[in-house]
Amino acid sequence: MAVGIFDSGLGGLTVLQAAQERLPQVDFLYFGDSAHAPYGVRDADDVFNLTTAAIEKLWDRGCDLVILACNTASAAALRRIQEGGLPPGKRVLGVFVPLIEALTERQWGDNSPPREVAVKHVALFATPATVASRAFQRELAFRAIGVDVEAQACGGVVDAIEEGDMILAEALVRSHVEALKRKMPDPEAAILGCTHYPLMEKTFQDALGPEVKVFSQGRIVAESLADYLQRHPDMLGSGEPGFLTTGDPARVSDRATQFLRRQITFEKA
Ligand code: SIN
Repeated sequence: MAVGIFDSGLGGLTVLQAAQERLPQVDFLYFGDSAHAPYGVRDADDVFNLTTAAIEKLWDRGCDLVILACNTASAAALRRIQEGGLPPGKRVLGVFVPLIEALTERQWGDNSPPREVAVKHVALFATPATVASRAFQRELAFRAIGVDVEAQACGGVVDAIEEGDMILAEALVRSHVEALKRKMPDPEAAILGCTHYPLMEKTFQDALGPEVKVFSQGRIVAESLADYLQRHPDMLGSGEPGFLTTGDPARVSDRATQFLRRQITFEKA
């Protein structure tokens, strides 16, 4: 019995790790599409097609419930996939709604009309594709009014992390935070809207300053998954746990082992 976790590459391991800590009794089958990463610079149709193919693979492997850990996929493909109709007994959940529920202090699944919330100035850091989709702002508008969102497309950060070049990643994060602050000098909250960014959370927090509350999705998504599985225990599916990649399994396993500081072995998807 396993829940599927899909990401464009390795960033989703941050969601997997948080989910395993929160739900040690649940198994996961992770699928990283490293051969096509990063998604953040692809157009929406491309992201939709790649995401759909990956979800179908996870369904075929018995994962009835698939978490789209990738923000770019959640932004560009999730609504379209859900509107197209899902096969019976299959579900796909994204990462934006849990993040926005945490930001706006809503309970899971609270669909009441949008209302004023405490936070008024929000910085969103995400890939160019996620920023261009405006999916975050659209989902936020269903839940909150009077919130000013300034988005910063963080070009280059995902590539640097996937290449293991953390010095370059850190320099890029600092320059993207500076660029954001020129547009919005006083954010109260910052959303790390990409699976890879939790790996740079300390750098974001340092550059933003201690007064800014940073929302990083790992723990938030894990909490929301725990809630969902409590309501839908039948969604655990029949899949076997493991790690799948469209990239080179040896190379991807090395990087993943480095990120999670434990042995991870990927097999070819
Ligand atoms: C990417 O593939 O560009 C990043 C993944 C994400 O948006 O979370």
